[in-house]
Amino acid sequence: MMAFPDILARAEAGGQLSPADLAVLLGIERDEDLQALFQAAYRVKLGTVGNKVYFRGIVEFSNICRKDCYYCGIRRSNQAVERFQMTHAEIVNAAIWAYENDYGSLVLQSGERNDANFADFIADILTEVKVRTNGKLGITLSLGEQTEEVYRRWFACGAHRYLLRMETTNPRLYAQLHPADHSWVERRACLDRLRQAGYQVGTGVMIGLPGQTLDDLVHDLVFFKEQDIDMIGMGPYIVHQDTPMAQQVTDFDADRQLMLGLKMVAVARLYLRDVNIAATTALQALRHNGRELGLQAGANIIMPNVTDTKYREAYQLYSNKPCTNENSSMCRGCLQGRVQGIGESIGFGEWGDSPHFLRRQTTSAPVVQQ
Ligand code: 5AD
Ligand code: FES
Repeated sequence: MMAFPDILARAEAGGQLSPADLAVLLGIERDEDLQALFQAAYRVKLGTVGNKVYFRGIVEFSNICRKDCYYCGIRRSNQAVERFQMTHAEIVNAAIWAYENDYGSLVLQSGERNDANFADFIADILTEVKVRTNGKLGITLSLGEQTEEVYRRWFACGAHRYLLRMETTNPRLYAQLHPADHSWVERRACLDRLRQAGYQVGTGVMIGLPGQTLDDLVHDLVFFKEQDIDMIGMGPYIVHQDTPMAQQVTDFDADRQLMLGLKMVAVARLYLRDVNIAATTALQALRHNGRELGLQAGANIIMPNVTDTKYREAYQLYSNKPCTNENSSMCRGCLQGRVQGIGESIGFGEWGDSPHFLRRQTTSAPVVQQ
């Protein structure tokens, strides 16, 4: 087997990486090796996507969910959480705030619903936000598994990106994390549906799940490459005390989870090169500067929370979520400071599509910033 420094040098130069190479990179533990990995990934980031960070203002507009994932704090069976649903006007106002504060794009996320009222509700919001921002605010949806018809309808109303994490690309592990009526195959099919509907498709996984092996993580990265994914949103698994999975995890180690999360970001950058990779909030739940560390390990996207403060406490997918007492302006200022503090700049007012996506556009109809 080739040694770590040789593999890292080849990775940085853009050489092919086998699953065994990826496993070596993900398996490193020594501090100096980790620093070398992060620095190499950072150099590749500068050469592929640059040092500009793109902000996606995220509205987490409802915690009502029909799913019952064993790890998630807003799962249907969790009686301890108070359910909320922001109104149409509140969501549109948050979107306008993001637009007026120069966030190039918006993410609408909520628990999963698949009733007809919900599809209409989203369609109406998309239509109004598009009109009121002159088509200039990019819109990403993160609303779970839906039919092809619904995906197409929302696309026609102006959404152009969609995030749907696979959670894990190992179907056996997926089955351990979810009740029997949650289907990995169906979720996988949704990614194809989204692509066919015209969206830029983002996916991702949770990192450091109980029962997850290093090979699973390697396979996740290979899956992203094979699927030609444009955007990656992945973060460490964090225990939520009111979930069944909390019982299985007796040795939760925040530092280990953070490090594994950062390693995945770095190796994803080395392996996938020109895709967008988010420095997710879960990193910051584990350490105050987790998102900056994510940027320094190769991520280039941040999703500042633009949800009304009064709803934030009730949208806890995992424990210790930051920013629940802050408002949108505070998060804007805070994240701006954090980004600038590590010598990076912010792509205000830009959609910030990944070069990977733009490169693919020569073969299909482009959706470009107006
Ligand atoms: N820890 C970390 N991430 C979680 N998510 C849900 N629950 C947890 C948790 N306990 C992530 C899932 C989901 C995204 C919206 O939040 O990956 O897709
Ligand atoms: Fe919300 Fe720092 S990002 S307070």
